[in-house]
Amino acid sequence: MAFNLHGRHFLTLKDFTPQEIEFLLDLSADLKAKKRTRTQYPLLKGRNIALIFEKPSTRTRCAFTVAAIDEGAHPEYLSKNDIHLGAKEDTKDTARVLGRMFDGIQFRGFAHSTVEELAKYAGVPVWNGLTDQFHPTQILADMLTVKEHLGSLKGRKFVFIGDARNNMGNSLMIGCAKLGLHYVGCAPKALDPDPKLVAECKKMAEQYQTGATISLISDPKKAVKDADVIYTDVWYSMGEEDKAAERKKMLKPYQVNMDLFKATGNKETIFMHCLPAVKGNEVTDDVFEHPRSVVFDEAENRMHTIKAVMVATIGDI
Ligand code: CP
Ligand code: NVA
Repeated sequence: MAFNLHGRHFLTLKDFTPQEIEFLLDLSADLKAKKRTRTQYPLLKGRNIALIFEKPSTRTRCAFTVAAIDEGAHPEYLSKNDIHLGAKEDTKDTARVLGRMFDGIQFRGFAHSTVEELAKYAGVPVWNGLTDQFHPTQILADMLTVKEHLGSLKGRKFVFIGDARNNMGNSLMIGCAKLGLHYVGCAPKALDPDPKLVAECKKMAEQYQTGATISLISDPKKAVKDADVIYTDVWYSMGEEDKAAERKKMLKPYQVNMDLFKATGNKETIFMHCLPAVKGNEVTDDVFEHPRSVVFDEAENRMHTIKAVMVATIGDI
């Protein structure tokens, strides 16, 4: 079923109903098929898109750029060193200036409040390309990938291992709650997600009756039993480089190695990672290169899903 998401911001999946998220996944699959057969239409013809980056990026930047060009739009990369954002100029002023010139604005950076402020003042859709708290476009790509490999989302056991309070842990927990997966966060207690967000996710699952469950299990072998998906991410995120030594010590027992991967007892388990990966830390090379590792499908799906977000919010559909 089609939903009208025109003019909407995309800051976190909390703001979208399960049906709206499913619509974005269906649209992504459709746009992916059209790209493969070269039958895509320029659904963003004449649009101009600002891509603001406070932090580095390979996938997100390239996904927005290629998706925009595929659909006939012009993307403009603006690194924090190129513009006055928050330094010489208030964020709300930059938002109002860019909103007069661009049809949509992507922001990747540190404080989630910055993307919220851009959204409040821009007057055009603002898309969150990662903040310290959330990474919602990544979740669309991940869910599309799970669907492609396992055929369904509802009722699947999804285990996130590592820094379960980072932007990926937070966002995957929200995505699972909204789409009816059984989410297990597996981390040392100190890296468990904020109890407020956990409660919020449980409430969403109940409100929409998605059938999702949310649990936190700190023992890795117990956590991964019967998992359909094992997902991990870096042990220290962008901006946390000073925590490297401490995190390596804390998270060593949470490394996804062959021993842990086999502990699912399920031959069909897939391995996922948003990338970039630090091999030898959160994942070993043999798991990363395993035939059940789907990390590059996830990376490709960043493009198709980001395209769907732009098409749905500012495109000709
Ligand atoms: N997964 C992801 O967001 O990758 P980049 O940091 O390369 O954009
Ligand atoms: N948690 C990671 C995700 C990178 C895509 C980071 O924020 O650095």
